[in-house]
Amino acid sequence: MSFPSDLSAESVCYLNGTFQPLSQCRVSVLDRGFIFGDGVYEVIPAYGRRVFQVDAHLARLARSLNAVEMTNPCSKEDWLALVQEVLARNAEDDQCIYIQVTRGVARRDHAFPRGVEPTVFMMSFPFPHIPADKRASGVACITAPDLRWRNGHIKSTALLGNVLARQLSAEIGAAETILIRDGWLTEASASNVWVVRNGRLCAPLRDHDKLEGIRVSLLEELASEVGINMEFRPIAEWELRCAEEIMLTSATKEVISVTTLDGKNVSEGRPGPVSQSLYAAYQDAKKRIGPDNCAGQHADPLKKRYRPKNA
Ligand code: PDD
Repeated sequence: MSFPSDLSAESVCYLNGTFQPLSQCRVSVLDRGFIFGDGVYEVIPAYGRRVFQVDAHLARLARSLNAVEMTNPCSKEDWLALVQEVLARNAEDDQCIYIQVTRGVARRDHAFPRGVEPTVFMMSFPFPHIPADKRASGVACITAPDLRWRNGHIKSTALLGNVLARQLSAEIGAAETILIRDGWLTEASASNVWVVRNGRLCAPLRDHDKLEGIRVSLLEELASEVGINMEFRPIAEWELRCAEEIMLTSATKEVISVTTLDGKNVSEGRPGPVSQSLYAAYQDAKKRIGPDNCAGQHADPLKKRYRPKNA
């Protein structure tokens, strides 16, 4: 079986109770994640092997599982131990932990199968730090209609709508596709979108049309810490087009300024003061991760339970 050349084959993953190299992980073609995209996921950043905002990520995972009527296969403590074990077993200090839970392997039938174990998979990839020159210049984005389903609040692995949207910007070398539904900003293909209007930071309402990123509440807190006024409200497409600043947030992008939209400069075409100050506040917040979130702290009690027989 071919293996992507840009990935480490030896990167250690967790799959249904055992730790194994990425190149050896196998899932049945009957897995409902493969057949139907019937699963949910999380992407959790870790810096210096300390997971950032992990409680919020695990709480959102629990909400996504509940929303698709799947039983959470692990307690919060077990998730934390598994995350820390994967972090500890991989080489990089700064990593992203990907967790995926699918409804498991069953005869192909749209209705939920009975008595089937979920598939639980975790992998790590090096944190994709954005080069300083790119941060300094900001990124280009385009807009497109939001054609996705109406349950964007569920972090589902069924991402075809997001994939097609992202491809539009990828094809022209832009960083993201910002989505508009019925004249209103929702989010981007894999990030949340923020605008500055009349000096105020604005974010679209938290609702089922979009994923509530873990950085949404965090940025709300950071904005208040650094004295930036902020509000959640519907944001019209025309407001996006004449915003003083636009920025994106996600686990991997952190906070990044959008400096062109559909080929036109946003204000002067340079990162503005609000995005710069929120990016700096975000970097400070990363330094405050508690020792409890450090890889290795909680792993011991679970090593016996989750360690593969030959490890
Ligand atoms: N995506 N909206 C969508 C559609 C997303 O896919 C993401 C994150 C976000 C931001 O959420 P957070 O702040 O929790 O990362 C918003 C991840 C990174 C991904 O799919 O790779």
